[in-house]
Amino acid sequence: MFLNIDQVGKTFKDQEQGSFEVFSNIKLSIEENQFVSILGPSGCGKSTLLSMIAGLEDISEGAIILEGSEIKRPGPDRGMVFQEPSLFPWLNVKENVMYPIKKLLSKKKQRSA
Ligand SMILES: Nc1ncnc2c1ncn2[C@@H]1O[C@H](COP(=O)(O)OP(=O)(O)OP(=O)(O)O)[C@@H](O)[C@H]1O
Ligand SMILES: [Mg+2]
Repeated sequence: MFLNIDQVGKTFKDQEQGSFEVFSNIKLSIEENQFVSILGPSGCGKSTLLSMIAGLEDISEGAIILEGSEIKRPGPDRGMVFQEPSLFPWLNVKENVMYPIKKLLSKKKQRSA
């Protein structure tokens, strides 16, 4: 299995508003090259689930396994197109595209130094 979403839940915790459970017990298996759409009303948690797969949002319950490894943080093996514009306005298109690639290359350089 390529991507396994195993009984995943998300609860946002806020000191003032307490805890808010967005969803629980999501189970989904996706094979390599499979094209999947997630449909649901506004606020049901589609973006939250995608952010969890991207490693940008903590997983409150369960686990998300990508090719046998549990997702704990973002990585260059996953890309995400955000719902809202998320470009650096002071960079041009090419510089925005190159930004993560340059970061990755400089990390690799540091590791091999
Ligand atoms: N950082 C956060 N802290 C607290 N609650 C949040 C946070 N992010 C999202 N939520 C809440 O979680 C729920 C799910 O939000 P999410 O953005 O995942 O919905 P969605 O399905 O993508 O909606 P839409 O179709 O409008 O894009 C909403 O009630 C939202 O207000
Ligand atoms: Mg959304």
